[in-house]
Amino acid sequence: MIFYFSSTGNCRYVAERIAEATGDSAVSMLECLQHRQLEFPDCEVLGIVSPTYAWGLPDIVDVFLRHVRIRSRYVFFIATYGTTPGNTAYFAEKYLGRTLDAKFSIRMPDNFTPWFDLSDPDKVAATNAKADEKLRKVIAQIRAKETGDFMQLEPPFFTWPVHRTAYAHLRKTANFRVEDTCIGCGRCAKNCPVHAIQMQNGKPVWVKESCTMCLGCLHHCPKFAIQYGNSQKHGQYHHP
Ligand SMILES: Cc1cc2nc3c(=O)[nH]c(=O)nc-3n(C[C@H](O)[C@H](O)[C@H](O)COP(=O)(O)O)c2cc1C
Ligand code: SF4
Ligand code: SF4
Repeated sequence: MIFYFSSTGNCRYVAERIAEATGDSAVSMLECLQHRQLEFPDCEVLGIVSPTYAWGLPDIVDVFLRHVRIRSRYVFFIATYGTTPGNTAYFAEKYLGRTLDAKFSIRMPDNFTPWFDLSDPDKVAATNAKADEKLRKVIAQIRAKETGDFMQLEPPFFTWPVHRTAYAHLRKTANFRVEDTCIGCGRCAKNCPVHAIQMQNGKPVWVKESCTMCLGCLHHCPKFAIQYGNSQKHGQYHHP
């Protein structure tokens, strides 16, 4: 079983490609949490695919790993990331409560567009092409049940407290603004994984102080009306 959390499609793509190549199934962590399905039969291979958020894991992944009940002989973890996967594997081991047999990281377009620029489609396509190359290698390693730490650019493990402070800062919903181009379709409110948005007088309003900060609302808005920092000039993204 390969569990993933994905806002703009990178992790979903990785999980589905691996599932396809190994005859396994890709399962959304968010859907499991929503349906309170957290107990699974033992399986031969268990995979966790997560984005990197502020050098750590999104809170949804934290919660899932803390509560899931599943046993497997071979457990692999993959962090997708834009600049560094940080301490994601450290947290995955801590919350899953067991050693990971194999740790991988795959560099993909960085969807934190308040800072990073994804406005050039050629650069984005080149990054995804390289990610595909890496993914092919990772799939071969998983099929061979290779063990070891194959992650890139990990900072030292003692830097893990950086995550807590940085994530708390980034995930404040006061960082969002809505442009006049909003047509009031309600897609952002309907799809927010933590129900942080409500439609009020035809416009989105953030009703929680903090959210997961998946940026799904920003990247999937049909009018690109939700902004955060410099996101407007950095474009919208979802994996092709
Ligand atoms: C709130 C937030 C924080 C992020 N922090 C990091 C980070 O610390 N390091 C990094 O390399 N990428 C970071 N990213 C980029 C994502 O990890 C990366 O784009 C990932 O592939 C997105 O996966 P998805 O498309 O499945 O949602 C961050 C993205 C978001 C939304
Ligand atoms: S998805 Fe975009 S256009 Fe639709 S309500 Fe939200 S901000 Fe407005
Ligand atoms: S408000 Fe937007 S960024 Fe925050 S969790 Fe909801 S969809 Fe994700």
